[in-house]
Amino acid sequence: MELEFAVNGERFNINSVDPSTTLLEFLRSNTPFKSVKLACGEGGCGACLVMISKYDQELDQVKEETCINSCLTLLCSINGCSITTSEGLGNAKKGFHPIHERFAGFHASQCGFCTPGMCISLYSALSKAHDKSSSLTVTEAERSVAGNLCRCTGYRPIVDACKSFACDVDIEDLGINSFWKKGDTKEVMLKSLPPYNHLVTTFPEFLKKKKVGNNSLDLSRYRWTTPFSVSELHSTLRAGKSKDSLKLVVGNTGAGYYKDEERFERYVDISHIPEMSMIKRDGKRIEIGAAVTISKAIDALNEEEGSKSCFIFKKMASHMERIGNHFVRNSGSIGGNLVMAQGRKFPSDIATLLLAADASVYVLNGRETVKVKIQDFLESPSVLDSKRVLVKVEIPLPTCDSLFESYRAAPRSIGNALPYANAAFSARVSHQEPFMMDECLLAFGSYGGDRSIRAKEVERFLNGKLLSHSVLYEAVSLLRGIIVPGRDTLHAEYRKSLAVGFLFDFFYPLIERSHRICNGHVDCPVKSLPFLSSSQQVLESNEFQPVGEAVVKVGAALQASGEAVFVDDIPTLPDCLHGAFIYSTEPLAKIKSVTFSGNVTPAGVFAVLTFKDIPKTGQNIGSKTIFGPGPLFADEITQYAGQRIALVVADTQKHADRAAKLAVVEYDTKNVEEPILTVEDAVKRSSFFEVHPMFYPEPVGDVLKGMKEAEKKILLAEFRLGSQYFFYMEPQTALALPDEDNCVKVFSSSQAPEYVHSVIATCLGIQENSVRVITRRVGGGFGGKAVKSMPVATACALAAHKLQRPVKMYMNRKTDMIMAGGRHPMKMTYNVGFRSDGKLTALELTMLIDAGNEADVSPIMPRNIMGPLRKYDWGALSFDVKVCKTNLPSRTAMRAPGEVQGSYIAESIIENVASSLGMDVDAVRKTNLHSYESLKKFYKHIAGELDEYTLPLLWDKVEISSEFKKRAEMVKEFNQCNVWRKRGISRVPIIHQVMQRATPGRVSILSDGSVVVEVGGIEIGQGLWTKVQQMVAYGLGMTKCQGSEKLLERIRVVQSDTLGLIQGGFTAGSTTSENSCEAVRLCCVILVERLKPLMEQMMVEKLGSLTWNMLIQQAYAQSVNLSASTLYKPEFSSMEYLNYGVGVSEVEVDIVTGRAEILRSDIIYDCGKSLNPAVDLGQIEGAFVQGIGFFMMEEYTTDEKGLVMQQGTWDYKIPTVDTIPKQFYVELLNSGHHKNRVLSSKASGEPPLLLAASVHCATRSAIKEARKQSLSWKCNDENSDGSGMDFELPVPATMPVVKGLCGLYSVEKYLEGKICEK
Ligand SMILES: Cc1cc2nc3c(=O)[nH]c(=O)nc-3n(C[C@H](O)[C@H](O)[C@H](O)COP(=O)(O)OP(=O)(O)OC[C@H]3O[C@@H](n4cnc5c(N)ncnc54)[C@H](O)[C@@H]3O)c2cc1C
Ligand code: FES
Ligand code: FES
Repeated sequence: MELEFAVNGERFNINSVDPSTTLLEFLRSNTPFKSVKLACGEGGCGACLVMISKYDQELDQVKEETCINSCLTLLCSINGCSITTSEGLGNAKKGFHPIHERFAGFHASQCGFCTPGMCISLYSALSKAHDKSSSLTVTEAERSVAGNLCRCTGYRPIVDACKSFACDVDIEDLGINSFWKKGDTKEVMLKSLPPYNHLVTTFPEFLKKKKVGNNSLDLSRYRWTTPFSVSELHSTLRAGKSKDSLKLVVGNTGAGYYKDEERFERYVDISHIPEMSMIKRDGKRIEIGAAVTISKAIDALNEEEGSKSCFIFKKMASHMERIGNHFVRNSGSIGGNLVMAQGRKFPSDIATLLLAADASVYVLNGRETVKVKIQDFLESPSVLDSKRVLVKVEIPLPTCDSLFESYRAAPRSIGNALPYANAAFSARVSHQEPFMMDECLLAFGSYGGDRSIRAKEVERFLNGKLLSHSVLYEAVSLLRGIIVPGRDTLHAEYRKSLAVGFLFDFFYPLIERSHRICNGHVDCPVKSLPFLSSSQQVLESNEFQPVGEAVVKVGAALQASGEAVFVDDIPTLPDCLHGAFIYSTEPLAKIKSVTFSGNVTPAGVFAVLTFKDIPKTGQNIGSKTIFGPGPLFADEITQYAGQRIALVVADTQKHADRAAKLAVVEYDTKNVEEPILTVEDAVKRSSFFEVHPMFYPEPVGDVLKGMKEAEKKILLAEFRLGSQYFFYMEPQTALALPDEDNCVKVFSSSQAPEYVHSVIATCLGIQENSVRVITRRVGGGFGGKAVKSMPVATACALAAHKLQRPVKMYMNRKTDMIMAGGRHPMKMTYNVGFRSDGKLTALELTMLIDAGNEADVSPIMPRNIMGPLRKYDWGALSFDVKVCKTNLPSRTAMRAPGEVQGSYIAESIIENVASSLGMDVDAVRKTNLHSYESLKKFYKHIAGELDEYTLPLLWDKVEISSEFKKRAEMVKEFNQCNVWRKRGISRVPIIHQVMQRATPGRVSILSDGSVVVEVGGIEIGQGLWTKVQQMVAYGLGMTKCQGSEKLLERIRVVQSDTLGLIQGGFTAGSTTSENSCEAVRLCCVILVERLKPLMEQMMVEKLGSLTWNMLIQQAYAQSVNLSASTLYKPEFSSMEYLNYGVGVSEVEVDIVTGRAEILRSDIIYDCGKSLNPAVDLGQIEGAFVQGIGFFMMEEYTTDEKGLVMQQGTWDYKIPTVDTIPKQFYVELLNSGHHKNRVLSSKASGEPPLLLAASVHCATRSAIKEARKQSLSWKCNDENSDGSGMDFELPVPATMPVVKGLCGLYSVEKYLEGKICEK
């Protein structure tokens, strides 16, 4: 039988295929459907989603329509299925789908790389609701995208687009959109939404007749077997030559974690065996086949009705809904999960749940099927090392008086994250107080042990005991001895404390009278997740129409359908080769050789290029900035772990990546000095980058005098800040094409094509006019696609030049993370002087910045840090900033580089000042806000005019809009009433300095009156093209002839081409949009000026009625030059200016787990006269959420050799929809006229990121409350975890960090306190 399936209705017959080929690989390389994006390749992001439909021939209907990831799904497993991608839902030719239209209309797409996946997720939720003959609810709509990552938008508009489909939505709750205007009635609003009626996907006729059952794929062509019964499976297993040669497959999602490299001789698809895919129930038990997907198991558990104890199944289902994400649950099976848990120590949730439910499994061993208790199964030798197969799981129905609860503490509450620890407990107690424990099962997992376990010692201890504080105390102490994480487990103590916390959480309602038992389950405080709610206040301005309007982003619907073309979507030529970097794993060592494992060149490899392959006329250069070049490859000596050593070039990306992994680099560290791996080492060895005075601001005032005036001082306080990875959804990528006469054309996903261009020319030793770099759009940049995009494009160009073949590179996430460098980590030491009323008098700051090994743009850091740090009146300020050169990957500019640290450093110092005075920190902040006079003292001419200093106004406005004072009181009350949850609220101001830069633009009017525009700035998702389009419409609209008011739709901004428009510079620093806008406005002024005489003449002839098209036709006839270009150069005296904003955040900390939930954030930001309020709002929200990532979640660290430790979505957690503020209110202040700005507008790209410090500060405040409470419990000095009131909250404040500061022994302390009381 032949592999046959459909994609968007099109038939595909595959004659033979490597069975390890994934659906994504096939779609991206063999079909025109590019909406499936590769962003992680491990099931962790949702960029690659597709709908899969299966057909039931007997019932003659589609039996299943669900969404799965295509990056893990194996091609052979979709035999007979119909696949629908986002462009299959709708597209530019046939018309967009209402989902695409609503995503566009709600401004839910920025770079657009995540958007097709988001649309499929939503479609899948709508389809599921339809299958159940119900309608999508708001909760389902919100959760539909919980497993998808977006790095740009901050999710709020995505959720709005999803909620617009919900039957119970209050339409007035939806945010800014292009469908209705403020003040429209609900009826008008509803009617204006693109209409939607769910239609079941039509299943292609040619597939309906295809009989998949009993008809396996031809083994010789596919190496893929599909047994249809247990006995067939048995025969297949027996026929396999060795145990390693077979791989059983259901969803293949396990490959997302283990990234199997082994090539199996044969794959066995076990999902068509009835015994393994059934669900059976008989009143005493429920049986679930091992090949049943987690989603189906959840549905089955939820459907269980009729018995008192079925709530246990519902609880299990609810826990399982937090496993992975919906698309992993849709394809991953129960059996696959358990086998991974049993054989490969996978931290499974299901194993823990089944242990507490006293489940059994059936295992096929030879011809025999044996039933074993789940615990025995988990402890038995690995199923994977034998030919045993898990057939089904049996869960007994518990007795009706059982209690059951399960727990899981993970970095994301409903999104995609493995737990730090999980637990599930069932118990029977006598229903009289004090309660007697009759029997309990206590299961713990994922804490770093080998597998999920039962805490039998604790169970034995508890059974038969009357529950009391002292019994629980003893149980908890016993448990600490049982939960033993493995040696290399991260946060081992934290995980132990979680286990203790879970046990406590389960039992303390049985001990403390305030809690009851009802209907057989523990009546714990409700922990439901409230809906997201949001509002935005933006003022559209019509002064410069259509500039100032919330126009829909250019190409948003195209992005949603997945037709928007990114570099990797450009169809490759058949002879295209692919590259992957081999990088160093040593920080400082001689490179002796680069070979491959076993000295065998891996399949598909064409060449391995090193610095020796750079042409003689060229140079070993891979990047450059104003501070100098960086090398493309390490030469004889590698300078840091993660440095590029070579480029392996192969026939496919898969082969190139595989070969790079198999590379063996031999190092020699003899006679090589010790590497510098810390800033302290750099100081010892005086290893610094020089900083030009231009980037080193002057001190302010007399610090000695300020210190003398101080009534109090904090001396030599020290803290550090870590790094952050960009996590652009589109990894680094480039495609180079050799051209005639030694030329090369390169498509690069870059924020700085001009520099890419120049670096390539220098590297190849050719003139710059022989290089052309083209960039259409970038799938998220955040600074990471500026300097760091250059070596990727250069390496491709080098290979293309040398091999005279097209060469493409699409970096895998791991390599990308290792090479990206990210944000600058730093160490601060300071002395601060202040009066007892909180007024600051002087700050002396010493900073050591870890810049890594290359200068990159690091010498700008002192200037960038000191800008926002001066937001308070320090009295006097002096500093000593050293930019350290280390043997670590070079750090680069990440969104708000230095600024976010500078602003945070100020807050951290203010927090400590308030703490040492015992004052309210908000009052200390207010006391030290600048007057206009002090603003001028600290910022000199950049301070601008008095009426431009809007910070005090914003400070007061947000106090009212956020009800700050009232809520601060409510927080106090909450903290008095609650023991295990504490809240904090914090208001943080920002001042962020930006600088305009010279930027080119060209506007050309074509003969039909349509307009084409080129700008230096790159569209990286920030809406630059949209603003430019609006500006051109405004500029040409000055002709005032008929039709010119409708020009917006006739303007197209096109890709950047470095030979077409030169001097594009960097797209960075938040001002590129306004600079590009000004450049095109100037072009329009030139064009209007050129058209004027003709217009006047025609107006006279046509008696005042002149249309745009007539004018342009005539201008062509008279050879008026209709293309104008310019290089906009801002005035030196006003090119820098300040941006202002204030954020208020309220956070609730769970003392048991350390989770910090952001209850609400209010932002008010001065955008001047926004060029496009919808775009600016998106920038503010997106930046704020990226800031939440920096302050609260994202750990980007290096090991002892300096190699980056995080490798992808498993261990690098960016915010998801469940981590953003539950209530999110944003207001743009339209601060009127700014005469030196572009049509009075101000920047929005980076400054709002700084406001996320409000979340961190609110968390600090909640922790303070927890520590205060903990001190009050102190019964004796044992278990003291040093919880005083002076503490520094590290960045990021992850759950282990927060818990550590709240007290790893808080449960024990509490119980000791209770015991002491008695
Ligand atoms: C992004 C992501 C997030 C996740 N998050 C969580 C989480 O939070 N909690 C959690 O518990 N799990 C989590 N998982 C794990 C997930 O549940 C498993 O990957 C999935 O259940 C495996 O099922 P599968 O059908 O895809 O197995 P496959 O990948 O097809 O198989 C996995 C392994 O088991 C073998 N195998 C499969 N079935 C059998 C059988 N019946 N008998 C013998 N051997 C068999 C296969 O040969 C293979 O070696 C996550 C996975 C991903 C990809
Ligand atoms: S690329 Fe498939 S889930 Fe990320
Ligand atoms: S729009 Fe979501 S990642 Fe860019």
